[in-house]
Amino acid sequence: MATKAKYVNKALDAAVPLQHPMKIHEAMRYSLLAGGKRVRPILCIASCELVGGDESLAIPVACAVEMIHTMSLIHDDLPCMDNDDLRRRKQTNHRVFGEETAVLAGDALLSLAFEYVAAKTTRVSPESIIQAIAELGSAVGSEGLVAGQITDICSEGTQVSLSKLEYIHVHKTAKLLEASAVVDDVLDVTKSSAELGKTAGKDLASDKATYPKLMGVDKAMKLAGKLADHAMQELAYFEPARAAPLYYLADHIANRQN
Ligand code: FPP
Ligand code: MG
Repeated sequence: MATKAKYVNKALDAAVPLQHPMKIHEAMRYSLLAGGKRVRPILCIASCELVGGDESLAIPVACAVEMIHTMSLIHDDLPCMDNDDLRRRKQTNHRVFGEETAVLAGDALLSLAFEYVAAKTTRVSPESIIQAIAELGSAVGSEGLVAGQITDICSEGTQVSLSKLEYIHVHKTAKLLEASAVVDDVLDVTKSSAELGKTAGKDLASDKATYPKLMGVDKAMKLAGKLADHAMQELAYFEPARAAPLYYLADHIANRQN
């Protein structure tokens, strides 16, 4: 994971050079290169390798997924959404650059993500590139991330059902990650801001719909373990050596500490 994260970081650094207009590129780079875990791009590269491709084929999509994830966090932290001060162990984008710039930095990263896949993917058929762009679009739009975020925001302070909570997670997080996100809400309850690098206890304070709220921390962790087991069973169909990084990733996501 560390080697792949380094490869991804280098590609992201090159994808957003510090150029005119300086302020917007500084803001984009501030959040994009803030040292995220790079779970999504690593998952993308490992999935490509699982089916016989090499990392150079997947790197444009891997970077695009991280650009989209970063922009969604910049917007999620805005005062009109979760109003957060801390992200990836640093002050949030709007705290440093102001709200107008943070909105635009998110917009620019979202546009760049699609441009990057179209312009930088090589040795892949045009049909597959178009399919990847269409899938990315549907994962982030009003039937994906945006659908999850609007349902999450409208559910604050209300009593939600388990199926509505699952809808929020599937759309807000799993559409892009295609994996379980239960652990994130458990960590919000059990860890400190210093350990997480972002504000802990936020979900409780805003009375957010979360798994710990609905079923308690212990049952939420059991569910995360069950989902990770299920993910690992799916990998049994593939050649063990190629599937090994994804086994590790599933385990890492379910048992991570921040
Ligand atoms: C963090 O959730 C937020 C997300 C996973 C996605 C937020 C989505 C948007 C703001 C829509 C963005 C728009 C497009 C077009 C992609 P959280 O608040 O539960 O987690 P946190 O504790 O890390 O803030
Ligand atoms: Mg948030």
